[in-house]
Amino acid sequence: MKNRVAVLHGVNLGALDRRPAEIYGGLTFARLERRIEAYARELGLETRLFQTDFEGEYVQELHKAREIADGLLLNPGAWTHYSWAIRDALEVSGLPAVEVHLSDVDNREAFRRVSVLEGVCIARVAGKGPEGYRDALAHLKEAFTA
Ligand code: DQA
Repeated sequence: MKNRVAVLHGVNLGALDRRPAEIYGGLTFARLERRIEAYARELGLETRLFQTDFEGEYVQELHKAREIADGLLLNPGAWTHYSWAIRDALEVSGLPAVEVHLSDVDNREAFRRVSVLEGVCIARVAGKGPEGYRDALAHLKEAFTA
Protein backbone atom coordinates (compact mmCIF):
# COMPACT_ATOMS: atom_id res chain seq x y z
CA MET A 1 0.00 0.00 0.00
CA LYS A 2 1.15 3.54 -0.77
CA ASN A 3 2.17 5.45 2.34
CA ARG A 4 5.34 7.44 1.58
CA VAL A 5 5.06 11.24 1.68
CA ALA A 6 7.82 13.67 0.78
CA VAL A 7 7.35 16.94 2.66
CA LEU A 8 9.08 19.76 0.79
CA HIS A 9 9.51 23.15 2.44
CA GLY A 10 10.89 26.07 0.50
CA VAL A 11 12.45 29.45 0.95
CA ASN A 12 12.59 31.12 4.41
CA LEU A 13 10.69 28.35 6.19
CA GLY A 14 13.87 27.17 7.87
CA ALA A 15 13.88 30.52 9.70
CA LEU A 16 10.28 30.13 10.87
CA ASP A 17 10.88 31.23 14.47
CA ARG A 18 12.35 34.53 13.25
CA ARG A 19 9.33 35.43 11.14
CA PRO A 20 6.36 37.43 12.49
CA ALA A 21 4.93 35.36 15.34
CA GLU A 22 1.44 36.84 14.90
CA ILE A 23 1.38 35.29 11.42
CA TYR A 24 3.46 32.13 11.80
CA GLY A 25 3.01 31.28 15.46
CA GLY A 26 6.64 31.63 16.55
CA LEU A 27 7.49 27.95 16.51
CA THR A 28 10.83 26.69 15.28
CA PHE A 29 11.04 24.84 11.99
CA ALA A 30 12.41 21.80 13.84
CA ARG A 31 9.29 21.72 16.02
CA LEU A 32 7.06 22.05 12.98
CA GLU A 33 8.80 19.07 11.40
CA ARG A 34 8.39 16.99 14.59
CA ARG A 35 4.65 17.78 14.56
CA ILE A 36 4.36 16.76 10.92
CA GLU A 37 6.09 13.46 11.72
CA ALA A 38 3.69 12.88 14.62
CA TYR A 39 0.62 13.59 12.45
CA ALA A 40 1.97 11.24 9.80
CA ARG A 41 2.52 8.47 12.36
CA GLU A 42 -1.08 8.83 13.56
CA LEU A 43 -2.24 8.33 9.98
CA GLY A 44 0.12 5.44 9.26
CA LEU A 45 2.16 7.47 6.77
CA GLU A 46 5.93 7.63 6.38
CA THR A 47 7.52 11.02 5.83
CA ARG A 48 10.68 12.22 4.24
CA LEU A 49 11.46 15.82 5.18
CA PHE A 50 13.30 18.36 3.05
CA GLN A 51 13.85 22.14 3.18
CA THR A 52 15.91 24.42 1.00
CA ASP A 53 16.32 28.11 0.26
CA PHE A 54 17.54 27.31 -3.27
CA GLU A 55 14.92 27.06 -5.98
CA GLY A 56 17.00 24.77 -8.21
CA GLU A 57 17.46 22.33 -5.33
CA TYR A 58 13.71 22.30 -4.76
CA VAL A 59 13.18 21.55 -8.47
CA GLN A 60 15.75 18.73 -8.35
CA GLU A 61 14.02 17.24 -5.31
CA LEU A 62 10.75 17.22 -7.26
CA HIS A 63 12.49 15.47 -10.17
CA LYS A 64 13.69 12.70 -7.82
CA ALA A 65 10.46 12.50 -5.82
CA ARG A 66 8.77 9.62 -7.65
CA GLU A 67 11.66 7.30 -6.74
CA ILE A 68 11.20 7.87 -3.01
CA ALA A 69 7.58 8.90 -2.44
CA ASP A 70 3.98 8.12 -3.32
CA GLY A 71 2.75 11.65 -2.70
CA LEU A 72 3.90 15.16 -1.92
CA LEU A 73 3.12 17.76 0.70
CA LEU A 74 4.38 21.12 -0.53
CA ASN A 75 4.91 24.43 1.21
CA PRO A 76 7.21 26.29 -1.18
CA GLY A 77 6.95 29.57 0.80
CA ALA A 78 7.07 32.67 -1.42
CA TRP A 79 7.91 30.55 -4.51
CA THR A 80 4.26 29.48 -4.38
CA HIS A 81 3.30 32.83 -5.81
CA TYR A 82 5.65 33.07 -8.79
CA SER A 83 7.83 30.03 -9.49
CA TRP A 84 6.51 28.50 -12.69
CA ALA A 85 9.63 26.30 -12.64
CA ILE A 86 8.35 24.64 -9.48
CA ARG A 87 4.92 24.13 -11.02
CA ASP A 88 6.49 22.45 -14.06
CA ALA A 89 8.73 20.29 -11.85
CA LEU A 90 5.68 19.18 -9.89
CA GLU A 91 4.13 18.02 -13.16
CA VAL A 92 7.33 16.08 -13.91
CA SER A 93 6.99 14.26 -10.59
CA GLY A 94 3.61 12.85 -11.66
CA LEU A 95 2.68 12.43 -7.99
CA PRO A 96 -0.44 13.53 -6.13
CA ALA A 97 0.39 16.68 -4.21
CA VAL A 98 -1.22 18.85 -1.55
CA GLU A 99 -0.30 22.52 -1.10
CA VAL A 100 -0.14 23.72 2.48
CA HIS A 101 0.48 27.11 4.10
CA LEU A 102 0.67 27.99 7.77
CA SER A 103 -0.85 31.41 7.22
CA ASP A 104 -4.12 32.47 5.60
CA VAL A 105 -2.59 33.44 2.25
CA ASP A 106 -5.98 34.46 0.81
CA ASN A 107 -6.40 37.16 3.42
CA ARG A 108 -2.98 38.77 3.37
CA GLU A 109 -1.25 40.83 0.65
CA ALA A 110 -2.73 40.49 -2.86
CA PHE A 111 0.39 38.80 -4.25
CA ARG A 112 -0.11 35.86 -1.87
CA ARG A 113 -3.51 35.03 -3.39
CA VAL A 114 -1.84 33.74 -6.55
CA SER A 115 -0.62 30.15 -6.47
CA VAL A 116 1.30 28.67 -9.38
CA LEU A 117 0.36 25.25 -7.97
CA GLU A 118 -3.33 25.76 -8.70
CA GLY A 119 -4.56 23.00 -10.95
CA VAL A 120 -1.66 20.65 -10.25
CA CYS A 121 -2.47 19.87 -6.60
CA ILE A 122 -5.33 17.68 -5.38
CA ALA A 123 -6.01 20.01 -2.43
CA ARG A 124 -4.86 23.16 -0.71
CA VAL A 125 -4.88 23.87 3.03
CA ALA A 126 -4.08 27.36 4.34
CA GLY A 127 -4.47 29.41 7.49
CA LYS A 128 -4.68 26.53 9.96
CA GLY A 129 -1.12 26.72 11.30
CA PRO A 130 0.64 23.41 11.99
CA GLU A 131 -2.73 21.56 12.24
CA GLY A 132 -3.18 22.24 8.54
CA TYR A 133 -0.45 19.69 7.88
CA ARG A 134 -2.60 17.01 9.47
CA ASP A 135 -5.45 17.89 7.08
CA ALA A 136 -3.03 17.91 4.16
CA LEU A 137 -1.68 14.46 5.10
CA ALA A 138 -5.25 13.17 5.42
CA HIS A 139 -5.98 14.35 1.85
CA LEU A 140 -2.96 12.39 0.63
CA LYS A 141 -3.95 9.30 2.57
CA GLU A 142 -7.36 9.46 0.91
CA ALA A 143 -5.71 9.74 -2.51
CA PHE A 144 -3.54 6.68 -1.73
CA THR A 145 -6.55 4.55 -0.88
CA ALA A 146 -8.78 5.77 -3.74
C1 DQA B 1 3.73 30.58 3.54
C2 DQA B 1 2.98 31.76 2.92
C3 DQA B 1 3.81 32.45 1.87
O1 DQA B 1 3.10 33.55 1.32
C4 DQA B 1 5.09 32.97 2.49
O2 DQA B 1 5.90 33.56 1.50
C5 DQA B 1 5.84 31.95 3.26
C6 DQA B 1 5.08 31.01 4.09
C7 DQA B 1 2.92 29.95 4.70
O3 DQA B 1 3.24 28.82 5.08
O4 DQA B 1 2.02 30.59 5.22
O5 DQA B 1 7.05 31.90 3.27
O6 DQA B 1 3.92 29.59 2.56
